[in-house]
Amino acid sequence: DPALTELLNSRIRDVQDYPKPGVLFKDIAPLLADAEAFGALTRALAERAKELGATKVVGLEARGFVLAAPAAVAAGLGFVPIRKKGKLPGDVFSRSYDLEYGSATLEVQCDAFEPGEKVLVVDDVLATGGTIAASLDLVQEAGAELVGVVVLMELGFLTGREKLVPHLHGAPLETLVVV
Ligand code: PRP
Ligand code: MG
Repeated sequence: DPALTELLNSRIRDVQDYPKPGVLFKDIAPLLADAEAFGALTRALAERAKELGATKVVGLEARGFVLAAPAAVAAGLGFVPIRKKGKLPGDVFSRSYDLEYGSATLEVQCDAFEPGEKVLVVDDVLATGGTIAASLDLVQEAGAELVGVVVLMELGFLTGREKLVPHLHGAPLETLVVV
Protein backbone atom coordinates (compact mmCIF):
# COMPACT_ATOMS: atom_id res chain seq x y z
CA ASP A 1 0.00 0.00 0.00
CA PRO A 2 1.85 3.14 -1.24
CA ALA A 3 -0.18 5.48 1.01
CA LEU A 4 0.80 3.49 4.11
CA THR A 5 4.44 3.41 3.00
CA GLU A 6 4.41 7.17 2.50
CA LEU A 7 2.78 7.82 5.88
CA LEU A 8 5.27 5.58 7.71
CA ASN A 9 8.26 6.96 5.82
CA SER A 10 7.22 10.53 6.65
CA ARG A 11 7.36 9.68 10.38
CA ILE A 12 10.86 8.13 10.37
CA ARG A 13 13.52 10.67 11.32
CA ASP A 14 17.11 10.67 10.06
CA VAL A 15 19.72 11.23 12.76
CA GLN A 16 23.24 11.87 11.45
CA ASP A 17 26.29 10.33 13.15
CA TYR A 18 24.39 8.13 15.63
CA PRO A 19 25.40 5.85 17.34
CA LYS A 20 28.80 6.72 15.88
CA PRO A 21 30.26 9.12 13.30
CA GLY A 22 29.36 8.27 9.70
CA VAL A 23 26.21 6.29 10.57
CA LEU A 24 22.78 7.57 9.56
CA PHE A 25 20.32 6.38 12.23
CA LYS A 26 16.66 5.86 11.36
CA ASP A 27 14.64 6.98 14.41
CA ILE A 28 11.11 5.58 14.70
CA ALA A 29 10.20 7.69 17.77
CA PRO A 30 8.15 10.18 15.67
CA LEU A 31 6.20 7.28 14.14
CA LEU A 32 5.43 5.76 17.54
CA ALA A 33 4.40 9.18 18.88
CA ASP A 34 1.90 9.68 16.04
CA ALA A 35 -1.38 7.89 16.79
CA GLU A 36 -2.42 7.80 13.13
CA ALA A 37 0.87 6.32 11.86
CA PHE A 38 1.34 3.88 14.76
CA GLY A 39 -2.30 2.81 14.46
CA ALA A 40 -2.01 2.27 10.71
CA LEU A 41 1.19 0.26 11.17
CA THR A 42 -0.40 -1.85 13.91
CA ARG A 43 -3.47 -2.59 11.78
CA ALA A 44 -1.30 -3.51 8.76
CA LEU A 45 0.81 -5.92 10.84
CA ALA A 46 -2.30 -7.47 12.41
CA GLU A 47 -3.92 -7.90 9.00
CA ARG A 48 -0.85 -9.73 7.66
CA ALA A 49 -0.73 -11.94 10.75
CA LYS A 50 -4.33 -13.01 10.11
CA GLU A 51 -3.89 -13.40 6.34
CA LEU A 52 -0.82 -15.57 6.84
CA GLY A 53 -2.66 -17.76 9.37
CA ALA A 54 -0.36 -16.97 12.28
CA THR A 55 -1.24 -18.28 15.73
CA LYS A 56 1.45 -16.22 17.51
CA VAL A 57 3.26 -12.95 16.80
CA VAL A 58 6.95 -12.96 17.77
CA GLY A 59 8.72 -9.68 18.59
CA LEU A 60 12.48 -9.14 18.82
CA GLU A 61 13.86 -7.22 21.81
CA ALA A 62 13.69 -4.30 22.11
CA ARG A 63 12.23 -2.23 19.30
CA GLY A 64 10.47 -5.26 17.80
CA PHE A 65 8.44 -5.60 21.01
CA VAL A 66 6.89 -2.17 20.50
CA LEU A 67 5.58 -3.12 17.05
CA ALA A 68 4.74 -6.80 17.57
CA ALA A 69 2.81 -6.67 20.85
CA PRO A 70 0.04 -4.27 19.76
CA ALA A 71 -0.20 -6.11 16.43
CA ALA A 72 -0.71 -9.40 18.26
CA VAL A 73 -3.50 -7.90 20.36
CA ALA A 74 -5.15 -6.29 17.32
CA ALA A 75 -5.05 -9.64 15.51
CA GLY A 76 -6.49 -11.48 18.51
CA LEU A 77 -3.27 -13.48 18.89
CA GLY A 78 -0.74 -14.13 21.64
CA PHE A 79 2.74 -12.58 21.71
CA VAL A 80 6.09 -14.34 22.19
CA PRO A 81 9.29 -12.42 23.00
CA ILE A 82 12.72 -13.27 21.63
CA ARG A 83 15.05 -11.67 24.15
CA LYS A 84 18.69 -10.78 24.53
CA LYS A 85 20.77 -13.26 26.53
CA GLY A 86 20.04 -13.85 30.19
CA LYS A 87 16.60 -12.23 30.41
CA LEU A 88 14.32 -15.27 30.15
CA PRO A 89 13.79 -17.77 32.99
CA GLY A 90 13.82 -21.54 32.56
CA ASP A 91 15.14 -23.54 29.63
CA VAL A 92 15.98 -21.48 26.55
CA PHE A 93 17.34 -21.97 23.05
CA SER A 94 20.21 -19.56 22.21
CA ARG A 95 21.74 -18.17 19.03
CA SER A 96 24.68 -15.82 18.72
CA TYR A 97 24.87 -13.43 15.80
CA ASP A 98 26.82 -10.47 14.47
CA LEU A 99 25.13 -7.09 14.70
CA GLU A 100 25.86 -3.95 12.70
CA TYR A 101 27.66 -2.59 15.76
CA GLY A 102 29.06 -5.65 17.59
CA SER A 103 27.74 -9.11 18.45
CA ALA A 104 25.01 -10.51 20.67
CA THR A 105 22.98 -13.57 21.67
CA LEU A 106 19.22 -14.02 21.40
CA GLU A 107 17.07 -16.51 23.30
CA VAL A 108 13.57 -17.97 23.26
CA GLN A 109 11.94 -20.13 25.92
CA CYS A 110 11.90 -23.82 24.97
CA ASP A 111 8.18 -24.03 25.80
CA ALA A 112 7.20 -20.79 24.01
CA PHE A 113 5.12 -22.61 21.38
CA GLU A 114 2.56 -25.39 21.40
CA PRO A 115 2.96 -28.10 18.75
CA GLY A 116 1.75 -26.90 15.32
CA GLU A 117 1.94 -23.18 16.02
CA LYS A 118 2.40 -20.76 13.13
CA VAL A 119 4.54 -17.73 13.71
CA LEU A 120 4.80 -14.23 12.25
CA VAL A 121 8.09 -12.55 13.18
CA VAL A 122 8.08 -8.73 13.48
CA ASP A 123 10.97 -6.31 13.88
CA ASP A 124 11.63 -2.64 13.15
CA VAL A 125 14.74 -2.77 10.96
CA LEU A 126 16.38 -5.22 8.57
CA ALA A 127 20.02 -4.14 8.26
CA THR A 128 22.64 -6.92 7.97
CA GLY A 129 19.96 -9.53 8.73
CA GLY A 130 21.84 -11.04 11.68
CA THR A 131 19.09 -10.38 14.22
CA ILE A 132 16.29 -11.83 12.13
CA ALA A 133 18.38 -14.79 10.90
CA ALA A 134 19.12 -15.81 14.50
CA SER A 135 15.46 -15.32 15.44
CA LEU A 136 14.18 -17.47 12.58
CA ASP A 137 16.56 -20.24 13.62
CA LEU A 138 15.24 -19.97 17.19
CA VAL A 139 11.61 -20.21 16.02
CA GLN A 140 12.48 -23.34 14.08
CA GLU A 141 14.44 -24.84 16.97
CA ALA A 142 11.49 -24.19 19.29
CA GLY A 143 9.30 -26.27 16.97
CA ALA A 144 7.03 -23.61 15.44
CA GLU A 145 6.29 -23.09 11.77
CA LEU A 146 7.35 -19.74 10.32
CA VAL A 147 4.55 -18.26 8.16
CA GLY A 148 6.15 -14.87 7.51
CA VAL A 149 8.41 -12.02 8.53
CA VAL A 150 7.27 -8.39 8.42
CA VAL A 151 9.77 -5.60 9.04
CA LEU A 152 8.95 -1.91 9.17
CA MET A 153 12.14 -0.73 7.48
CA GLU A 154 14.64 -2.40 5.18
CA LEU A 155 18.03 -0.79 4.71
CA GLY A 156 18.21 -1.72 1.05
CA PHE A 157 21.89 -0.82 0.66
CA LEU A 158 22.80 -3.66 2.99
CA THR A 159 22.42 -7.32 1.99
CA GLY A 160 20.16 -8.51 4.79
CA ARG A 161 17.49 -9.81 2.45
CA GLU A 162 19.93 -12.19 0.71
CA LYS A 163 21.33 -13.36 4.02
CA LEU A 164 17.84 -14.34 5.23
CA VAL A 165 16.90 -16.57 2.29
CA PRO A 166 18.30 -19.82 3.76
CA HIS A 167 16.63 -19.05 7.12
CA LEU A 168 13.15 -18.39 5.70
CA HIS A 169 12.44 -21.91 4.38
CA GLY A 170 10.14 -20.38 1.77
CA ALA A 171 8.20 -18.06 4.08
CA PRO A 172 7.64 -14.51 2.78
CA LEU A 173 9.79 -11.58 3.92
CA GLU A 174 7.88 -8.30 3.66
CA THR A 175 9.21 -4.83 4.37
CA LEU A 176 6.90 -1.81 4.56
CA VAL A 177 9.50 0.90 3.87
CA VAL A 178 12.76 0.48 1.95
CA VAL A 179 15.33 3.18 2.69
C1 PRP B 1 18.50 -3.10 15.82
C2 PRP B 1 17.16 -3.12 15.16
C3 PRP B 1 17.07 -4.52 14.58
C4 PRP B 1 18.52 -4.86 14.27
C5 PRP B 1 18.79 -4.84 12.81
O1 PRP B 1 18.39 -3.74 17.08
O2 PRP B 1 16.11 -2.89 16.11
O3 PRP B 1 16.56 -5.43 15.55
O4 PRP B 1 19.32 -3.85 14.94
O5 PRP B 1 20.15 -5.08 12.54
P1 PRP B 1 20.67 -6.36 11.75
O6 PRP B 1 19.74 -6.62 10.59
O7 PRP B 1 22.03 -5.92 11.27
O8 PRP B 1 20.75 -7.50 12.70
P2 PRP B 1 19.44 -3.55 18.27
O9 PRP B 1 19.87 -4.90 18.72
O10 PRP B 1 20.49 -2.58 17.85
O11 PRP B 1 18.69 -2.81 19.43
P3 PRP B 1 17.21 -2.71 20.06
O12 PRP B 1 17.30 -3.48 21.35
O13 PRP B 1 17.02 -1.24 20.23
O14 PRP B 1 16.17 -3.30 19.15
MG1 MG C 1 16.32 -4.53 17.50
